[in-house]
Amino acid sequence: MARLNGFRERLSEERVVPVETDRGPYVVRLVEGAPVVHYALCPHRGGPLEDAYEIERLLVCAWHRSAFRIADGRAVYGPACADLPVVPARFDGPDLVVDWTEGPADATGG
Ligand code: FES
Repeated sequence: MARLNGFRERLSEERVVPVETDRGPYVVRLVEGAPVVHYALCPHRGGPLEDAYEIERLLVCAWHRSAFRIADGRAVYGPACADLPVVPARFDGPDLVVDWTEGPADATGG
């Protein structure tokens, strides 16, 4: 579990924020008012998903148009043959709480 203090306001202003964690690079984005935390690099060829488009409830890689369900990272279209890691996250007051599934995480805003 990681808590990013005061991150709610930052995310409201910036909408997409890269973060470095001890698990590698991730992106936090605000989707319909809720935080979504996903791995920063596309499973296909490592395209930067900070630049991905949101279409309906999909995240579309800008490089070769692989599409992933925002809710769970499932690859649903395009050349990616692996799902995108998505980590459960929620706001707790002004903070963002990221629920890593194993071990401690040291996430800091990048
Ligand atoms: S790098 Fe994302 S679809 Fe190819």
